[in-house]
Amino acid sequence: MKILMVCLGNICRSPLAHGVMQHLVEGEGLNWYIDSAGTGGWHVGYPPDPRAIAVAKRYGIDISRQCAQQLHSGHLDTFDLIFTMDRSNLRNVLALAQTPAQRSRIRLFMEDKEVPDPYYDDGLFEPVYQLIETRCRELIEVLKTVK
Ligand code: 4NP
Repeated sequence: MKILMVCLGNICRSPLAHGVMQHLVEGEGLNWYIDSAGTGGWHVGYPPDPRAIAVAKRYGIDISRQCAQQLHSGHLDTFDLIFTMDRSNLRNVLALAQTPAQRSRIRLFMEDKEVPDPYYDDGLFEPVYQLIETRCRELIEVLKTVK
């Protein structure tokens, strides 16, 4: 199973989702490949935001060596599932898709809810972490039965 987590900058939400998912699947002994990308390119080449690194570290997860990349159309064929953190990202990723098969692999991470953007609000990093961890655990339970 190859999963790509996508947000706007690839420095806050999707690196957390990437790091948490990777940590949890490793703990379960699952050989899944997890990565993340941003729809925007402003932070390409940079590590995650220090506040995202700090909240992950509090839960024993090191995301400091991740490096931001921008989503490109090649990702749509490389990954089995592409999860976007909010509806704006979802629209942008769907706009890159050219085939029904690509579109079918693109989903909102929380199904019917968005992960709020914590970039301008320090107080959101902890609740965002909690949302992401809870959802990653649910997704593993669901997806384990598929592949
Ligand atoms: P992310 O957060 O999409 O969760 O990585 C953001 C990071 C950077 C910006 C916006 C959101 N920005 O405007 O630079």
